Amino acid sequence: MADPHCVALLRRYGTELQFLVNHIGHFFLINQLVHLVRNGSGRIVLVASRASITDVPPQGIMFDNLNGHRSYKPLQFFGQSKLAVALYAKELLHRLRARRIAVNSLHPGATRGTGLYRNFAMSKRMAILAAQLFAKSTSQGAATQVFLAGSPQVAGITGEYWSNGQIVSGNPLLSDRDLSMSITTFVLAIVTPAEAAKVEGTRELMPVPSEAHAIREDA
Ligand SMILES: NC(=O)c1ccc[n+]([C@@H]2O[C@H](COP(=O)([O-])OP(=O)(O)OC[C@H]3O[C@@H](n4cnc5c(N)ncnc54)[C@H](OP(=O)(O)O)[C@@H]3O)[C@@H](O)[C@H]2O)c1
Repeated sequence: MADPHCVALLRRYGTELQFLVNHIGHFFLINQLVHLVRNGSGRIVLVASRASITDVPPQGIMFDNLNGHRSYKPLQFFGQSKLAVALYAKELLHRLRARRIAVNSLHPGATRGTGLYRNFAMSKRMAILAAQLFAKSTSQGAATQVFLAGSPQVAGITGEYWSNGQIVSGNPLLSDRDLSMSITTFVLAIVTPAEAAKVEGTRELMPVPSEAHAIREDA
């Protein structure tokens, strides 16, 4: 993931880096691979974060500020990117329903021993190190996504947001279908849909983009 505490606003292709890495990258990957997912029993698991609930702007997604040119709060942009991930899980649920593919998103829990904090300033790292005494081990942090990807216990369960191996309430905005459709359409306009449309089976992911490619322009 991109660093939720990087102080400077970083962009690639005109898009704020956390949104690009955390959401657009995975969105693109799923589009490229979804034709390989088995109808009827396939599963897609998206790793979001509790920040999708606790650290998002009031409107959820700042469509007019995805490159941070109006304002930039690193943690809020992290939360926004993770809300976009969880919204995409909801949207995929609808778009892949006919293929009976299960789509869920999750919060892995605060987990130590990963590279998540590698770019933090030393002062912040000390505080994180103390907090990590209470964090999950890496295998514990991977447990919910492994459970969702492989366990027969969750066969057929779809469209949920999970934490600690259980269905929990995600951000209330996850039930806003207009929002999940809007962000999907918007990102499709960014990730060269003509390229992705060549992949068989992705047609249901490819509505004609109606938004301009505004955020592709470097601001
Ligand atoms: N650890 C936690 O407490 C925690 C809490 C909530 C959610 N999560 C989520 O769990 C997932 C795994 O995180 P993690 O803790 O295992 O973090 P991690 O060790 O940093 O792994 C994240 C992955 O993202 C890649 N990455 C980071 N910055 C990138 C960039 N600018 N461009 C391309 N790739 C980039 C890294 O690739 P390289 O190693 O090749 O750089 C790495 O494979 C993430 O989605 C994270 O948001 C973690």
